[in-house]
Amino acid sequence: MIDLHCHVLPGLDDGPTSTFQALAMARIAVASGTTTLVATPHIDVHWRVNPVDLPRRAAAFSQALQQEGIELELHIGGEIALSRLADLRPEELDGLRLGGGPYLLLESPLSPMAGDFDMLLLTIHARGEPIVLAHPERCPLFQQEPERLIRLVEAGFLCSITTGSLLGQFGESVRRFTIELLREGLVHDLASDCHDDRQRPPGLADALARAEHELPGIAAQQRWLTTLAPAAILAGDPLPPRPPRGDSAWRDSAW
Ligand SMILES: [Fe+2]
Repeated sequence: MIDLHCHVLPGLDDGPTSTFQALAMARIAVASGTTTLVATPHIDVHWRVNPVDLPRRAAAFSQALQQEGIELELHIGGEIALSRLADLRPEELDGLRLGGGPYLLLESPLSPMAGDFDMLLLTIHARGEPIVLAHPERCPLFQQEPERLIRLVEAGFLCSITTGSLLGQFGESVRRFTIELLREGLVHDLASDCHDDRQRPPGLADALARAEHELPGIAAQQRWLTTLAPAAILAGDPLPPRPPRGDSAWRDSAW
């Protein structure tokens, strides 16, 4: 499995504070069947991570993985906040594309005060930027007006949801909204958004199974959501066809 959204590089943001903790996260990822992590530190005005530093940081962590015999492929990206996007130079932006592919991972604002940011997103997208939205299910604007998210997906945006949302870590309303997004076929990727080895650990294997009673057959979508679609995103290829739904709990209009 490929995890497109991870805070795994130590000492950069609110991810692991030490290489020791980052290695513990890597071990959990491998044990749960993840083969590839894309390190996506916060690129925002709070943490002020310098994109230029990321290759060096990733190389150091890759070396630590090798020394520990942990077989994990590590790529670089960034979870870019809209507040920082305008400040990034083109070459910095290019260094933040997921796995060196074409896609940018943009953070869906968690503040209810974010305004009509979707209009800005559409403008950016119209310039030819392919965009994956990080955790749209946690975004108040999309929760209140799902049609705004639908419009973005129809325009070509991809949605990456977070395992913790399915597991209820962000509350029942977020969990229910996540189920709705899956039901409506608005989800293109499942990522861990891992931050540590305890509260928000890596691992993609079990989250979908928890939703099986509400969306029978959803667990069968796991390979598409965690391997096939993210591989296409990294490669810049069109997403492969989704597997058949096979149950009437899914809405026909969603696909
Ligand atoms: Fe994140």
